[in-house]
Amino acid sequence: LTVAVLISGTGSNLRALLDAAAEPDYPARIVVVGADREAEGFRHAEDFGIPTFLVPWRDFDTRDEWGAELATQLDVWRPDLVVLSGLMRLLPPAVVEARAPQIINTHPAYLPEFPGAHAVRDALAAGVVQTGASVIVVDDGVDTGPVVAQERVPVLPGDDEHTLHDRIKPVERRLLIDVVRRIATGELDLAAAAASASTPS
Ligand code: GRF
Repeated sequence: LTVAVLISGTGSNLRALLDAAAEPDYPARIVVVGADREAEGFRHAEDFGIPTFLVPWRDFDTRDEWGAELATQLDVWRPDLVVLSGLMRLLPPAVVEARAPQIINTHPAYLPEFPGAHAVRDALAAGVVQTGASVIVVDDGVDTGPVVAQERVPVLPGDDEHTLHDRIKPVERRLLIDVVRRIATGELDLAAAAASASTPS
């Protein structure tokens, strides 16, 4: 299974996936890493000799134009799967529809709790005693796609956004590595997951 990973930030989840994919028996291969800005995480791709591409958000007038260039870059690599891991941009519907359901996203909350770009901060603000990490199939909503893996993470007294996110990320990475493995082996069928989500239960 060939995988493209899209990031915006430090890429710690990307690093974990790169480390896993470096194992000879891991059934997926990361072929390219893309970002919407000069992401710190590019260095992880460079460490592994994996090509990167940059589609700077600020170079485009609209989300659709940015998305179209992103899609053009992805088409160069024709990945079987696109993993959004810390990409802090919503993909335009055209990009999602062209590739769905072969796009998954990691999210630092127990979806459908705390969707959106500030999940960790929102969980803290809500005063919950547990939050979580989730991997979902991307649809054209904001973190609304079907959940393919998720796990609870405790919120501890005295947590701030940094300490809580640092407790969530290792769980997120483990879920992501396992989900990509299960997709590669055929154990997890994203089309089935997406279909079962769309039929009203
Ligand atoms: C991850 O928790 C991801 O789910 C969220 O932002 C974080 C990115 O972390 N969107 P990193 O860039 O993988 O270190």
